[in-house]
Amino acid sequence: MAKLKGIYPTLTGANRLKFHRTLYFPPRFLWGTATSAHQVEGGNRDNDWWAWEQRRKSRPHSGRACDHYRRYREDIALMSAMGQNAYRLSVEWSRIEPQPGQFNHRAIEHYRDVIRALNRAGIKPMVTLHHFTNPRWFAAAGGWTRRSSVRVYLRFVRTVIQELGDLVEFWVTINEPLVYSLQSYLVGLWPPNRKSYWLALRVYWHLVVAHRRAYREIHAYYHERRWHRPKVGFASNTVSLYAYQQHAISSWLFIRVADFIWNHSFIVMTGRGYHDFIAVNYYFHYRLKHIHFRTLRFFVEARQEHREMSGVGWEVYPQGIFDVLLDLRRYRLPIYITENGIATASETKRTRYLVSYLKEIYHAIQAGADVRGYFWWSLLDNFEWNLGFHPRFGLLGVNYRTQARIVRPAAAIYQQIAHGNSIPHWMLKVLGHGVTIPASRSLSAKGD
Ligand code: FCB
Repeated sequence: MAKLKGIYPTLTGANRLKFHRTLYFPPRFLWGTATSAHQVEGGNRDNDWWAWEQRRKSRPHSGRACDHYRRYREDIALMSAMGQNAYRLSVEWSRIEPQPGQFNHRAIEHYRDVIRALNRAGIKPMVTLHHFTNPRWFAAAGGWTRRSSVRVYLRFVRTVIQELGDLVEFWVTINEPLVYSLQSYLVGLWPPNRKSYWLALRVYWHLVVAHRRAYREIHAYYHERRWHRPKVGFASNTVSLYAYQQHAISSWLFIRVADFIWNHSFIVMTGRGYHDFIAVNYYFHYRLKHIHFRTLRFFVEARQEHREMSGVGWEVYPQGIFDVLLDLRRYRLPIYITENGIATASETKRTRYLVSYLKEIYHAIQAGADVRGYFWWSLLDNFEWNLGFHPRFGLLGVNYRTQARIVRPAAAIYQQIAHGNSIPHWMLKVLGHGVTIPASRSLSAKGD
């Protein structure tokens, strides 16, 4: 806590009352939103996702998505209006390097324009270098299963750093390496639809090596140019895990192992010295009931337990983010929540989610977690991978026919929070913890 001393108003006189009524966040806190290129830009024809979408009619097609590639100015103006001072975006590898070793300078210029526009608007860019998609040629050559993938990725990273480095302080090397390895190589839900433990492990290992080398490369380049020290991390899909039978050794052990794999293995395997911050994407928490190795079903579904869920069946559980943040204190690094949000058709639910997760983050900060920023997923409704356009994650809604942006009530709430760098107590009572939807209600209408 010593570090946080002096950040909050002193608890004397009139301040005391104010302090109790308002949940202040640390000064210079980043209030942002997050997107990824393929999910919002539209027309990303040269990557493996696009190719995969085209292969079957029944699959969702990203198509024009939110046309963010062309409409970024309008979107940045909306971010400004929302009081955002940060934005997490990703650059699309297949646009920048459509053929091996050939870089498209128009695409690079485009991203320079976007980032310049953000900086001009006082919005700090956090740039992700790999967010699930790969150029087609890279995928065709075996993608991340190949040892040479690391070298090829680094060539891309080097180019991006040379071209955009002067405009960017925060870099995310890889988004959710474990999710990518599992979804694409073990569960087989995402391209290239493989189901192999061996391949999943191999890919995961290559991502570990890729992160380490990208970290070194980025630092070395900034150092050489005598620029400010960059901040480099990877985004982790952090989950909170609980066991019903906490006293049973098997459950305890299982949770410890699962927690290590999900929340710590990448940091440990890359080495602690290869992270300038911890980037937390938080959506999930799991409860262990029985250990069934044969079916690989360990966790109880929220639906089964009649718990409150989002429109895509993910449980609403704000307390979980408090736990993961306190667990991450062990690394003694700044923490940024680089994704958190809900897919829902209900604005009441969206705002309650926002306010109640932020309240838990506030408490985690009070308890010593060095959280320095929060990025809501997402700025816009967008292409949610294999689920297509149906989930609505945006603070801004999108009419996919006209591409019109719709400012949702939650955006106005976010604006007030960002503006005041705090959550007023009335907001908590009215929109946050005051009202919860009874469990049985959450079962209706696709969990919404
Ligand atoms: C995260 C992904 C992001 C988005 C959200 C809902 O795991 O990083 O692209 O799909 O989930």
